Amino acid sequence: MISDDPSDAPIAGATADDLRVFAEGGLVFDRVFRPSQGVGPVFIQASCRACHGAGGRGPGSVTRLAIVDRAGEPADAARWLPYGSTARRRFAAGATRGVTAPVPAEPDRLLRSMRVGPAVFGRGWIEAVADESILAQERLQASAAGQVSGRVNRLADGRIGRLGVRARLADLESFAAEAFQGDMGLTSPRAPAEVPNPDGLTDDLRPGVDLRDDVVRAAAGYVRRLAIPARAGLAEPGRRLFADVGCADCHAPSLRTRADYPVAAMAAQDAALYSDLLLHDLGPSLADGITGEGVATGREWRTAPLLGVRFSRSFLHDGRAGSIEEAVRLHGGDGSEAAASVRRFDALSAGDRAALVDFVRRL
Ligand code: HEC
Ligand code: HEC
Repeated sequence: MISDDPSDAPIAGATADDLRVFAEGGLVFDRVFRPSQGVGPVFIQASCRACHGAGGRGPGSVTRLAIVDRAGEPADAARWLPYGSTARRRFAAGATRGVTAPVPAEPDRLLRSMRVGPAVFGRGWIEAVADESILAQERLQASAAGQVSGRVNRLADGRIGRLGVRARLADLESFAAEAFQGDMGLTSPRAPAEVPNPDGLTDDLRPGVDLRDDVVRAAAGYVRRLAIPARAGLAEPGRRLFADVGCADCHAPSLRTRADYPVAAMAAQDAALYSDLLLHDLGPSLADGITGEGVATGREWRTAPLLGVRFSRSFLHDGRAGSIEEAVRLHGGDGSEAAASVRRFDALSAGDRAALVDFVRRL
């Protein structure tokens, strides 16, 4: 059964085959896995849905940890974070403890930052965007006057990263495999090793690799075919103001998808993502010090796709903003590429600002 939740709808033009993948993958996405199926030794939640409720944002989250020196640069991670930079409090399968934040000698050298599970709808369209569309945005920004100059997150294998808050992965199967492994303690052929844990366990109640690759492909196949939630109608003057103050420089209204994308209904289309899928330096106030996400620094974030932002109740990667206005103001801090745009937003008349915010709220 396909639900009538607008944030859990399949793409328009889906074939019978697409609908079958969507339905079967949706069951995997909703499934609460058990230790006997391989959850553990350490994990955060036991289902995708626990962090990506109803295809929308949250309620689950991931806590990331970093150790920095006095200048704020990453340091000493091997000593203080031997089990990696992700907290995994829950444990199963014979483990006696989870992975929690260390208590370093100088507590202010520990950065702890939260990541709220973003919406997953429309993420197939992010995967489908042609490399050339992203590179064209990068060139356009480099040639324009002003502070806005995003860059692609180039992965070790040469592909352009686009998924995740730092665009650290290029395809949904990789994301699903990493989520199963890192968030749920479920290994698969693409991500076969149990994550490091204080008990030193290298396996769990299910010997060897926990999930077959078709389970990973099913979860990815469901996310791939989730539609961008239908929009009620985008009114002027909000659309014009969004472009005039420079929001659209980063939150690009649409990007062209690949002509050879395997889901035919999504090939060679304009995807209304409201993101350029590039990394931008938003300055120290939003930085979390986490590195190792492709080439991104701890101050850079992928332009958040504003598609379906009306389903969110908290904003920015850690949910620190309670409203769209607050989110805008918080990404205009010192050293942020968005500072000039946010100043222009603040300089609008109250009526124009309300029209711009209303436009964003309908995306
Ligand atoms: C413990 C919470 C948690 C669980 C469980 C979880 N996720 Fe996520 N997911 C997150 C967070 C937090 C992010 C963003 C953080 C990041 O990019 O590092 C994310 C990001 C994503 C993205 C990228 C979204 C974007 O905007 O590019 C996809 C796709 C995704 N998850 C799919 C899945 C799938 C499929 C599963 C189940 C196999 C899953 N997640 C399980 C928390 C979770
Ligand atoms: C320099 C590029 C840039 C400009 C210009 C910019 N943004 Fe953003 N925006 C970002 C990035 C990057 C994020 C993600 C930050 C994070 O998650 O911490 C973001 C996040 C947001 C969010 C939160 C979305 C969510 O799902 O949490 C909103 C809302 C938003 N921007 C609206 C705007 C508006 C309105 C403007 C114009 C006044 C604007 N932005 C200008 C790059 C930009």
